Amino acid sequence: MICNKNLFFLTFIPLSILFTFASCGKTATTSNCENERVTYSNSIKAIMQTRCVKCHGASAPNLESLEGVKSAINLRDLICSVEWSSSTCKDMPADNSGKLSDAEIVKIKSWKCLGFPN
Ligand code: HEC
Repeated sequence: MICNKNLFFLTFIPLSILFTFASCGKTATTSNCENERVTYSNSIKAIMQTRCVKCHGASAPNLESLEGVKSAINLRDLICSVEWSSSTCKDMPADNSGKLSDAEIVKIKSWKCLGFPN
């Protein structure tokens, strides 16, 4: 006959092993941002310099620095502007130089998703 003590070990130990592995899986999970490697220095700065700063150096929002781009994303809906998909924001760039590429837009969104790494 199984005594209480055995019952305890028979249920508790397998459960604790299960939980150990389950929490392992959690810590190994990555951030789910589409592009995991984007930083201000390796991507965002160059996109802004090439496509935006000719207008957004002197006039607001200033996109010449990490802080400038970050606050334009948080406060001026920059991502909406580069997606050209909504009437609630102005399509950017504002001249006839064309929309950013899909890859560039993914980088900007991922940079936000990752927490604006430098
Ligand atoms: C040809 C000049 C020009 C270029 C290039 C340009 N912009 Fe703009 N942008 C403007 C002007 C002008 C405004 C102000 C529009 C207004 O308030 O009517 C503006 C406004 C904005 C705003 C605020 C939008 C809003 O709805 O308040 C954001 C964000 C922005 N631009 C982002 C960008 C980004 C990102 C780029 C590069 C991909 C870019 N712009 C390229 C001229 C430009």
